[in-house]
Amino acid sequence: MAAEIIDGKAIAREIREGLKDRIRLLREQKGVTPCLAVVLVGDDPASKTYVRNKERACNEVGICSRVLRLPDSTSQHELMRLVKRLAYDPDVHGILVQLPLPAHLDKDPVLMVVPWQKDVDGLHVHNVGCLSTGRNGFVACTAKGVLRLIESTGRPIEGRRAVVVGRSNLVGKPTSLLLLNHNATVTVCHSKTADMPSITRQADILVCAVGKQGFIRGDMIKPGAVVIDVGTTRGADGKLHGDVDFASAAGVAGHITPVPGGVGPMTIAMLLENTVEAGEIYG
Ligand code: GUN
Repeated sequence: MAAEIIDGKAIAREIREGLKDRIRLLREQKGVTPCLAVVLVGDDPASKTYVRNKERACNEVGICSRVLRLPDSTSQHELMRLVKRLAYDPDVHGILVQLPLPAHLDKDPVLMVVPWQKDVDGLHVHNVGCLSTGRNGFVACTAKGVLRLIESTGRPIEGRRAVVVGRSNLVGKPTSLLLLNHNATVTVCHSKTADMPSITRQADILVCAVGKQGFIRGDMIKPGAVVIDVGTTRGADGKLHGDVDFASAAGVAGHITPVPGGVGPMTIAMLLENTVEAGEIYG
């Protein structure tokens, strides 16, 4: 039987509609318009596209967006000074430093000067600590989006085996923690994992975030599993491809996300949601 396709685009659209109401209320009741500042350093084409999409999404729902574009030659000191200025700006509720930074810049000290109250990207150690100890805090947007997509299927998470392939700070680790907090039994696979197919085949929920086109084939999936594909690689054909070989996986999985139109729109929707929340709590 063919898997049901999880329509991330439609789910994200619904979330954005809900946010419009919250933003209107916030403006009427507190006189606050949530504002997101995005810092982009250098000319990476993929990052430029992501930032443009974020800017457009903010404008569409009524979030004020400020994009600060800095040249590749920006020094660590200059970048830190800019982020500190945004940290103290009372009109800015959320700050996102687009990653990756150019090679000569160290992201860690930069992420630490984003106050955790404005860390809508969920990358500050305070928010990572909240997630790892099951407390409320801002959660990395892709991980939060993955959880919403799984929840949209109506399939249970508690007590199920979840396998996350990839252990990045941006996606793999926060996704595994979020699933653990929802009482799944979680295994994290990575580049040193032995016999990965024997592990992925046990997954009721399989999340793949490695950035390798077609990495997960149908024979690595448990029949009926929920499969969430976080990967986006631009193929030789110029199109975006996921980590999951969709053709073989769709015949085995119960639910599956497409690429594009699965996780991508949800990441942006969660960034907007976190920004609205920052405006509501700290605005
Ligand atoms: N680059 C790719 N995805 C992301 C993200 O979610 N946050 C940041 N800061 N950079 C990214």
